[in-house]
Formats: sequence, C-alpha cells, structure tokens
Amino acid sequence: MSPRARFTTIAMCLLSLATAVSLCRRPAATAHAATAGTPVYAANGDLLPPSDYREWIYLTSGIDMSYSPKAMDTPDHSMFDNVFVNPAAWRSFVATGTWPDKTVMVLEVRGAKTRGSINQRGHFQDTEIMGFEVHVKDEARFPGKWAFFDFDSPHKNGTLIPTGAPCYTCHAAHAAVDTTFVQFYPTLLPIAKAKGTLSAAFLKDEEVAGANNLRSSTDSMKLITLDNALPWFGSVLIRLVGWSGDTGKQIQMVAFKKIKLRLQVRRFRSQVNE
Ligand code: HEC
Repeated sequence: MSPRARFTTIAMCLLSLATAVSLCRRPAATAHAATAGTPVYAANGDLLPPSDYREWIYLTSGIDMSYSPKAMDTPDHSMFDNVFVNPAAWRSFVATGTWPDKTVMVLEVRGAKTRGSINQRGHFQDTEIMGFEVHVKDEARFPGKWAFFDFDSPHKNGTLIPTGAPCYTCHAAHAAVDTTFVQFYPTLLPIAKAKGTLSAAFLKDEEVAGANNLRSSTDSMKLITLDNALPWFGSVLIRLVGWSGDTGKQIQMVAFKKIKLRLQVRRFRSQVNE
C-alpha cells in the first residue's frame, strides 16, 4: 500500500469510528427530547419529561399554599412548590405580557424541612421531589390550547390529565394570565399589569376581594369610633333605629353586650344592697 493509500484508509477508519461513537452516544429520546423547552410527545400522547427544566427561568416558590379555607387549619406536612418556565416563552412574556404557543411550565413539589444542619427555625427544601406537574400550551394539539400532564418522576413520561379535571376549572376561573397563576409570579405580574393582559376572571376576583377588604376595614373603623365616642345609650339608640348590613349587625352585637353587662352589674349591686 502506498503511503497515500495508507493515510486514506486510516482517515476513513477514524471517521467511521467517530461516527459510530457519536451514534452510540446520542441520548435516548425519553431523557432528552424535550431539552430545548418545546413540548415533545410519545406515540401514545404522553409528554416526554423536560429534562433540563432546572436550567429554565425560575418564577416562584410557594410554601404551603392552600386553596380551601378549611385545609389551612390542619397542615400535616409543609411543602414548597417551585415553578419554572422555558426561557423562550419567558422572553416572549416579557415582551408581550402573555404566553406564546409551545410554552412549557413546570411545577415541582418538594417537602419543607426544619431540622437539619445548623437550621433551627424556618424551612428549607428537601432533596426528594414529591410531585411533578407540567402545564403546556400547544394550540394545534389541545382544543383548549393548554393541557396539564402529571409525572411520577421528572425522568419518566407524563400522562395527560383529562379536560374535566379540577386543574382546568380552577386555572380557568382564577389564574391571572392565560390560565396561568401569574398573580403569584412576582417578576411577571407587573409586566402583565403594564401590558394589560390580566384575565377578566382574575380582575373580577380582585374586585370582589378589594370590596370585601374595604368593607371590613371601614366597618371596623366605624365600630371602633362608635365604641369610643358613644356612651352606651348611643349604641342602644343605633340599635333601636337599626343599621342595614354587616355594620348594623356588629354594632347591635356591641350594644347588646353592653346592655347585658350593665344589667348584670345592676343585678349584682342590688343583690349586694339587699
Ligand atoms: C383550586 C385551584 C387549583 C387547582 C384545582 C389546581 N391548581 Fe395548579 N396552580 C394553582 C395555583 C394557585 C398555582 C400557583 C402556584 C404557586 O404560586 O406556587 C398553580 C400553579 C400550577 C402550575 C404552574 C404553572 C401555572 O399554570 O401557573 C402547574 C403546572 C399546575 N398548577 C398544575 C396543576 C395540575 C396538574 C392540577 C390538577 C391536578 C392543578 N394545577 C390544579 C391553583 C390550582
């Protein structure tokens, strides 16, 4: 073999070796297909796990959030939920105040621990992941544009949650932007406000909450003022005249308590005098 031919053979060998190595090292579809942040699906409709979501944009860590007033009474374990979004969608949100097609949002749930290392108070996040859910915007694929997927682990494929599930109802009824809970993502809420993209459902919630707060604060102001300023017969007068709404009822309660107290004192005095 001439030196030139030998060189060509060696070069060919090296080239095929490199190709073989790169083929062998090509990552398995399940583990890496969703890396770029766009949703990728398996043949059965499952969503492949977004394997690099920890390199995405961090939105919030909610702790022990609860959506029912009763659940707050007995929290049996503390949990953090961390929310991430793919960088391209985040950039688009910053520019427009809403989410583009192919947005992927991850909710990662971790236990909150107190005892560990030097910590004495407060909570830190556990290494173990307790829940993993994904919210995907894929306009051509889902009739409602968005879909939820539930994952057993961030490394396995996620299953589609059917449209009737409470996930869809609550997100549609209360989320601030395009069925996502931007009201809890502090870096995004001001952008949505500035761009005027807050949902009608959210604005209505805010209006009701605002009115309730205002009513209860003005009510208690009125009560305190009355309680300090009026002698007890003033309260009685108001009670007799009547006052509509919650304020009236609260004032009646105060007045009623005062009368009861006075009667008790009078009875006690007369007993002592006898
Ligand atoms: C009663 C209301 C409610 C229900 C029901 C609900 N969520 Fe949410 N969801 C929230 C709130 C509030 C947040 C914001 C969490 C935070 O700030 O940490 C959120 C955030 C999320 C996020 C982060 C992205 C986003 O859309 O803002 C995902 C993913 C998510 N929820 C998935 C689900 C799934 C899956 C279900 C059903 C199994 C579900 N949720 C049911 C209230 C709800």
